[in-house]
Amino acid sequence: MVPVQLTGPRLAIREFHHTPGDVDGLHSVFGDPETARYLPFEARDRETCADQIELYLEEAQKDPRTVYRLAVTLREDGDDVPPIGNAVLGIEGRRAAFIGYALRRDTWGRGYASEITRLLCGFGFETLRLHRLAARVDPANTASSRVLTKAGFQLEGRIRHDLYLRDTWHDALQYSLLEDEWEQVKHQAVEQASGPGPGPDAD
Ligand SMILES: CC(C)(COP(=O)(O)OP(=O)(O)OC[C@H]1O[C@@H](n2cnc3c(N)ncnc32)[C@H](O)[C@@H]1OP(=O)(O)O)[C@@H](O)C(=O)NCCC(=O)NCCS
Repeated sequence: MVPVQLTGPRLAIREFHHTPGDVDGLHSVFGDPETARYLPFEARDRETCADQIELYLEEAQKDPRTVYRLAVTLREDGDDVPPIGNAVLGIEGRRAAFIGYALRRDTWGRGYASEITRLLCGFGFETLRLHRLAARVDPANTASSRVLTKAGFQLEGRIRHDLYLRDTWHDALQYSLLEDEWEQVKHQAVEQASGPGPGPDAD
């Protein structure tokens, strides 16, 4: 297996390690009922998070690999620090995958999910040569819908009763981004980052 390592301006995305630090980090995300509110499972205790990391490492060994469940860390914290979130990309079908992400609650609202999405798109379209990425979001999860829309994902529609959880059926909004759309989004982002070109008065 070739370990995944993605680096953005503020975040790094890497494989999980079966260490107490990574278990604590994952638990700080998935153990919070407020964070799990829009995830397709109940809040998880520390032991379940430890078991999950074991499962992630087993999945990572499969050849071909179809699921990438990865740890998100803050670069400013240095190398090999506990994660503040997770990022997932799961291959389903021909050159297609779904993505997902979750962050520790005290790190919300700083644009980190947008950075994770860009890194996952770069990995999916450029490294794995995928054609399509999709994501499903609870209709009440406006922050996640905003993250996807800002990243160029298009709303495909509403999946009715997509998930049965906590004694009730939940609908989902499905978003997707295609490889040619990613090329456009990426170039727009580069142009915005480099600012406007010289205006007519510039000499
Ligand atoms: C969803 C989540 C990943 C967003 O992470 P984040 O790092 O805070 O997201 P970003 O800062 O990149 O962007 C959030 C955007 O949503 C907006 N937003 C946040 N809360 C909002 C709300 N209640 N209503 C409308 N917009 C909202 C923010 O203003 C921001 O948009 P802006 O850049 O135009 O201002 C984070 O809240 C989280 O981990 N939630 C729990 C797990 C989860 O829901 N995962 C996604 C499952 S699909």
